[in-house]
Amino acid sequence: MSYGINNDDDAGPYTGLRTASVSAQFKLASIRRQRELLPIFRHRQTLLYIIETSPVLILIGHTGSGKSTQLTQYLYEEGWTSESKAIACTQPRRVAATSVATRVAEEIGCQVGQVVGYSIRFEDMTSENTRIKYMTDGMLLRELLVDPLLSRYCVVMIDEAHERSIYTDILLCILKKVIRKRKDLRLIISSATLQAEEFANFFGPDTRIASIEGKMYPVDILYLAEPTEDYVEKTIQTIIDIHNEEPEGDILAFLTGRKEINTVVEAILDRSAPDRNNQARLLPLPLHAFLPQDQQNRIFDPAPEGARKVIISTNIAEASVTIDGIVYVIDCGYVKLRAYDPASKMESLIVSPVSKAAAIQRAGRAGRTKPGKCFRLYESQVAETILPDISVPEIQRTNLAGPILQLKSLGIENIAKLDMITPPPVELVANGLELLYSLGALDEYGKLTAGLGERMAELPLDPMLSKVLLTSSSFGCMGEVLTVAAMMSVENVFYLPEDNHTAAEMEHLKFTVDEGDHLTLYNVYQAFSIRGKRSSKWAHDKYLNYKALSRAGSVRNQLARYLDKLGAKVPSSTSLSTVDAETIRKCLVSGYFANAAKMQPDGSFKLVGSEKIVWAHPSSVMFSRSAEWVIYSELMELGEKTYMIGITKIERDWLLESAPDYYQVRRGRA
Ligand code: CDP
Ligand code: MG
Repeated sequence: MSYGINNDDDAGPYTGLRTASVSAQFKLASIRRQRELLPIFRHRQTLLYIIETSPVLILIGHTGSGKSTQLTQYLYEEGWTSESKAIACTQPRRVAATSVATRVAEEIGCQVGQVVGYSIRFEDMTSENTRIKYMTDGMLLRELLVDPLLSRYCVVMIDEAHERSIYTDILLCILKKVIRKRKDLRLIISSATLQAEEFANFFGPDTRIASIEGKMYPVDILYLAEPTEDYVEKTIQTIIDIHNEEPEGDILAFLTGRKEINTVVEAILDRSAPDRNNQARLLPLPLHAFLPQDQQNRIFDPAPEGARKVIISTNIAEASVTIDGIVYVIDCGYVKLRAYDPASKMESLIVSPVSKAAAIQRAGRAGRTKPGKCFRLYESQVAETILPDISVPEIQRTNLAGPILQLKSLGIENIAKLDMITPPPVELVANGLELLYSLGALDEYGKLTAGLGERMAELPLDPMLSKVLLTSSSFGCMGEVLTVAAMMSVENVFYLPEDNHTAAEMEHLKFTVDEGDHLTLYNVYQAFSIRGKRSSKWAHDKYLNYKALSRAGSVRNQLARYLDKLGAKVPSSTSLSTVDAETIRKCLVSGYFANAAKMQPDGSFKLVGSEKIVWAHPSSVMFSRSAEWVIYSELMELGEKTYMIGITKIERDWLLESAPDYYQVRRGRA
């Protein structure tokens, strides 16, 4: 048995109010003990000394050694934050930022948002008192817009830097400049071993590398003898086989996305009859970016007596989130990555083979508390030959329009000339610039345009959606578009229970608008705000996600405040609107014209400007309807097919009206 972090969790999170009670004191003691048992603890003094004396520290350590949760606390305890300065710690993922902040707040004994807080897009859980601030890397880049020297911070820790998310790469490049101007600022970069040298070279001779690699137990790696056709089904079988044949220990399975994860969770619930032959129960738990906070916390709870925990996760659990007690890992061999194809100017989520580095990380999750086993759902030849060594950094495979816009707003004119660890490909930069130009954010010299471009950079949205929002006032539909934008920024609001699919679909159908998904989302929110805000019952009866809808309300308010600050006339939420659906659709085209497609006789769609064939995603209103021309908000590649998500029916002429230049060029090429 490991020293389970949450053994005494039923006492509830420790709060200052309860210091007098016996249980609270015990909680405190046990937390201190747990902290001292982490591998990083032995290095506390050394690390503090290095940080004191050198500007940049690169920290290497296995997942779970305490990098994310402990180092910030050590600095806080040593008084680094006394002069009202704070410690920032960035994460490439939202879930990591919130879950680490929650954990550290618990260890310190405060509420999240007090001494320890987090900031992710549309959710700021910080206050004046916040001294340790976890945030997504994208949020820190946004802070640079208003505070170019990051004067609020004494230490910035870029966590999980080896993941090479685009914002992490950009931050490292800018921070390299900032530390030259701010001698008092300290930079910590946490990285997997493989990439530490590269970071050290980038930051130059004053950089120190420290390794806190703790003890790891051996992990047996097992491969499939024959390739599998269906890794989701194979995952289910492997879980059940492990459960039947292997001694106790929890299971962690890696899959690529929420849908696969839910399939496995439900299959396990179905197929593992409890207490057959007196056997322990299987307790499947999903883990992915859209998991609500309360469900997130359940991941960390030890399995109840007589049950075996199975966590089924995206690559979040690869490094960002540490779960104790894992002895068996199942690695499907794939990961979902954002990829941009410069030729078709198309960005999509693609299921790709994991890198060797990621496969090693995944296997390592099994050897933290005792020797473990890793079941790879592919053949050993694949591991040796097909898998790439490391994944391509995001900056080389993503749409750069958003990042370029933000850099321009920071006064950085030429992204291609930046001192980057890995420079972005020229073609990607050119495409980003072209899109921003056609959206009106840049002028013909590549300068941010005074009205539109500057304001687009301020909105925390994709440039296309920013454009839609900022032009909505001229269409007279700002209130409606605010709602659509908010609904697009939260997780899926439609809930489809496995056992009551039809009933749910019937309810959802009542909100459906023939013109497409964006207006359907608008409808749902309208109904919610009139009838369903006060209690979750309404949403529940309609098979809608109450939390997501409430969040959309909060996002809507925040976006309205942004627009207000930018000088737009935001209509009050109570004002009755007379705008028609066509106006809203035209307004959407003003930002999404580059994402247009034409229906083919067989029901598929051909992207404008390329020969690429895509399909309406089954979740879309357009899946079962026809429309000659459409725009979409996102593409996703699944298996052989590419799907459009978020689709609205449009007229061809609107494209030419919205972006005459863009379509002129295109037609010239065609
Ligand atoms: O960052 P690193 O992977 O080195 O480790 P960490 O995230 O600081 O985790 C240190 C310990 O805190 C691990 O034993 C985790 O299980 C625990 N932890 C937790 O219980 N709950 C969290 N939300 C995060 C970490
Ligand atoms: Mg960590």
